[in-house]
Amino acid sequence: MDKMHIEDLIAMSGGFKEGADVALIDISQAALDKALATITKNLDRMLSKERITEADKASTLDHITTFTDLQEGVKTADLVVEAATENIDLKLKIFQQIDQAAPAKAILASNTSSISLTRIAAATSRPEKVIGMHFMNPVPIMKLVEVIRGYSTSDEVTSQIMELSRQLGKSPVEVNDYPGFVANRILIPMINEAIYTLFEGVAGVTEIDTVMKLGMAHPMGPLQLADFIGLDVCLAICNVLYEGFGNPKYAPCPLLVNMVTAGKKGVKSGEGFYSYTHGTKELIVAETFR
Ligand SMILES: NC(=O)c1ccc[n+]([C@@H]2O[C@H](COP(=O)([O-])OP(=O)(O)OC[C@H]3O[C@@H](n4cnc5c(N)ncnc54)[C@H](O)[C@@H]3O)[C@@H](O)[C@H]2O)c1
Repeated sequence: MDKMHIEDLIAMSGGFKEGADVALIDISQAALDKALATITKNLDRMLSKERITEADKASTLDHITTFTDLQEGVKTADLVVEAATENIDLKLKIFQQIDQAAPAKAILASNTSSISLTRIAAATSRPEKVIGMHFMNPVPIMKLVEVIRGYSTSDEVTSQIMELSRQLGKSPVEVNDYPGFVANRILIPMINEAIYTLFEGVAGVTEIDTVMKLGMAHPMGPLQLADFIGLDVCLAICNVLYEGFGNPKYAPCPLLVNMVTAGKKGVKSGEGFYSYTHGTKELIVAETFR
């Protein structure tokens, strides 16, 4: 998945093993079509590098079924991984629906970047089976899965998800459920500070990103990274930290708020700190910041 939304909800059936059946669920048929196209493109790339065979590609695609009906899609799942928009009310509603439709034994995971797993779990009748599986973008490349234990998550469910993550070729790290967990509690304040640095006129977009790339050996500057994550997602996480800790140091920069309000969400909207009308390969600073 080159973007998280292409995976949306993945329900696996047939056990936690290679060759499991996958239900790919989204309310948008266009998102499902895009997801399958991306998965096919990624498989073709692996095929051309001789990392998989034609038969592997066909079998992978054969195991994926798409659904626009959530309850139909999770009906026989052993594990559901929710990855819908980062909005608490939406996630609570989705988890109530999944809880009603998925088998009682199913583990319900969320790919949320910041929302309380304990709160999500409390909306279900099986809080001990609710857990965070926070994949990093771009998922096929990034090794980390932040595995988040809610207040009631059982030891058994945690070890099953740690093991499944290893089977997926990832390196899981177990953390507890506090706002932003570990990854975004550290990353998002850095991105927000980079936006403040721009907002206050300390330096321009290219200069800020260059300082962090060349000075701190970050592969991508914080403003470019914010565009890739999605400025709306960054803002949502900032607000979770701000409200969760009640500490003004997490207040989102007014420039970030304004950009999201104006529909400038980064790569997905075609413009953020950079302009993406010509794709993502070339870094062109958005006109507003030139
Ligand atoms: N963007 C990232 O880099 C990133 C990284 C790690 C985790 N995440 C997390 O992954 C989740 C998704 O992030 P995103 O950036 O892809 O969000 P997005 O809003 O861009 O996409 C979300 C997708 O969810 C679908 N959706 C909305 N409501 C739905 C419903 N009721 N049922 C089924 N599908 C529904 C939408 O059609 C869309 O395809 C969020 O929880 C986010 O915090 C994102």
